Amino acid sequence: MRAASDKIMPVKPATDFAEAPWLDPKAVPFIQIKSLGKQFGDFTAVDNISLDIYQGELFTILGGSGCGKSTLLRMLAGFETPSAGQVIIDGVDITDLPAYDRPVNMMFQSYAVFPHMTVAQNVAYGLKKDRLPKAEIAARVKEMLALVQLEELAARKPKQLSGGQCQRVALARALIKRPKVLLLDEPLAALDKKLREQTQFELINLQYKLGTTFIVVTHDQEEAMTLSSRVAVMDAGRFVQIGTPLQVYEFPINRFVADFFGTINLFDAKVTGSTVIDKNTYAIEAALDKTGTLVEADCTHKLKEGDLISIGVRPEKLSISQKKPRGKNLTITSGVVEDLAYYGNRSIYRVRSHSGRIIQISAQNFQRTKELVLEWDDQVYLSWDSSCSVVLSE
Ligand SMILES: Nc1ncnc2c1ncn2[C@@H]1O[C@H](COP(=O)(O)OP(=O)(O)O)[C@@H](O)[C@H]1O
Ligand SMILES: [Mg+2]
Repeated sequence: MRAASDKIMPVKPATDFAEAPWLDPKAVPFIQIKSLGKQFGDFTAVDNISLDIYQGELFTILGGSGCGKSTLLRMLAGFETPSAGQVIIDGVDITDLPAYDRPVNMMFQSYAVFPHMTVAQNVAYGLKKDRLPKAEIAARVKEMLALVQLEELAARKPKQLSGGQCQRVALARALIKRPKVLLLDEPLAALDKKLREQTQFELINLQYKLGTTFIVVTHDQEEAMTLSSRVAVMDAGRFVQIGTPLQVYEFPINRFVADFFGTINLFDAKVTGSTVIDKNTYAIEAALDKTGTLVEADCTHKLKEGDLISIGVRPEKLSISQKKPRGKNLTITSGVVEDLAYYGNRSIYRVRSHSGRIIQISAQNFQRTKELVLEWDDQVYLSWDSSCSVVLSE
């Protein structure tokens, strides 16, 4: 076992409150969701959710289909009446306000734009309904079209636009009334992969320029990863974990999050020893099921000998080699290459370990070679640094 001084995972304290207001004990949340719930008959769609969101955040709610994401967003927008709880935005309790009196706007899953109106007319619609002076409408539409890079297409009808351009019209239309909060329900779901990736960056830039608080709902974990200041992972009406994408990816709190947010190899294991390192850190040793491979890892909660846990290791944290690796703090196991996929920049290997389980490895192809270095049926060693083992007891 390692001594207390051998702590492997120095957790870097984040102190930049401007970048991370949720860490600032003095920061006042912009949106406060308090014990919000929604029942449909006997069915609980949103289950007692509480959450603080800070001004200027791009907050993402990530979860599988049917977990209650849209229902939650619709309650914030005022399209659904909560069964319980409260919503406060910028200090005002909006729980009982009708949708049109709320300082929020919503962009829907199927970004409905009016087909008979031009791009400019679509964008102007909200201001026209509010009977703003013509000159002001024209100025704001111009400004908004520039922001979403649609100036050249102002006179076109939606059917003369691509999916990405339509999506930008819908965004402009939702933003022109300068809401304090923009709610986006699966905003990029209708776009194909390349366009979606490009639009993700546009969305981030736009949000950054405007400083408007965005809440985005998505079922796509990569989208949540690239877009968010913070992400809430949702399951069955509840938030399972809230954190920055990095926190949730590298420090998932349970197997569900570990598996939902990225890919992970989960090994069943039994704790064989535990040492206290400091108040929130314990160094444990565990034996992997079947192979008995010993793993050392840090965890944040106390465990005792005999506890059954999972050790999680992300595919990119594993090294694969034909020679047995040597080094300090390495966990080493071995197996046979059962599958491999070459992606140019990296390769994915699926290795069957001697215990019979499949382990996935994602390796960068550092070297330029004429042939694959590893082939099907090759005997290989897999290794990872102890600091990469995630201890999961739930
Ligand atoms: N108006 C409704 N009446 C009854 N059940 C509903 C209604 N709206 C949503 N639900 C149910 O609530 C659950 C959550 O729905 P939703 O919030 O749309 O999920 P998500 O957006 O995460 O896919 C689903 O099981 C759905 O069938
Ligand atoms: Mg939905």
